[in-house]
Amino acid sequence: MADSVNVLVICGSLRKGSYNAALTRALPALAPPEIKLVTAPPLDAFPLYNADIQESSGFPPAAENLAAAIRSADAVLFVTPEYNWSMPGVLKNAIDWVSRMKDQPFKEKPVAIQSCSQGPLGGARMQYHWRMSMTFLNAFIFGTPEIFVGNAQTKFDKDTLELKDQPTKDIVKTQLAAFAKFIAKMKA
Ligand SMILES: Cc1cc2nc3c(=O)[nH]c(=O)nc-3n(C[C@H](O)[C@H](O)[C@H](O)COP(=O)(O)O)c2cc1C
Repeated sequence: MADSVNVLVICGSLRKGSYNAALTRALPALAPPEIKLVTAPPLDAFPLYNADIQESSGFPPAAENLAAAIRSADAVLFVTPEYNWSMPGVLKNAIDWVSRMKDQPFKEKPVAIQSCSQGPLGGARMQYHWRMSMTFLNAFIFGTPEIFVGNAQTKFDKDTLELKDQPTKDIVKTQLAAFAKFIAKMKA
């Protein structure tokens, strides 16, 4: 078996009934054995980004915790909805905070993304905004296959939120196997 790698999973939805959070719960069964998934600290503990806070009292604990989790991971996987064709504010806010750190933690970090939305395109437009931010932060961005879980309300069990859709499971499995290889190459 290939060397194991820790992949930090950041979910961009805070909602209890979130399809994206439901997708994160399906990942352990779909990941190759060498990937160990680690859940990121919650994003709702972040204050709104304000340089005055940073200057007067330093980075808030939520930002320090997330940065530490990113630094200690081999790679990061984002699983997030699209809001108004872009990243949800809570996710962008968290990225903005850690991006202001010395040795910002996304530098040369392998990153990949998956998105679920209740619209037909599955968050595709948001993913290109995310790619722009990750490019600026010099992350190593995984390419394809892309995961766009459109019409998510038809792909998860209505009561348990278990992922039911076999084609979605298959493509997620393919992406995670390819991401594991990508991480290994980036680390070599
Ligand atoms: C503020 C807001 C903006 C949204 N904008 C989009 C959008 O641009 N594209 C889209 O497909 N769905 C959009 N939606 C619908 C989301 O796809 C849907 O709420 C989804 O379930 C959110 O993800 P979650 O289930 O993980 O919370 C939006 C929802 C909210 C609350």
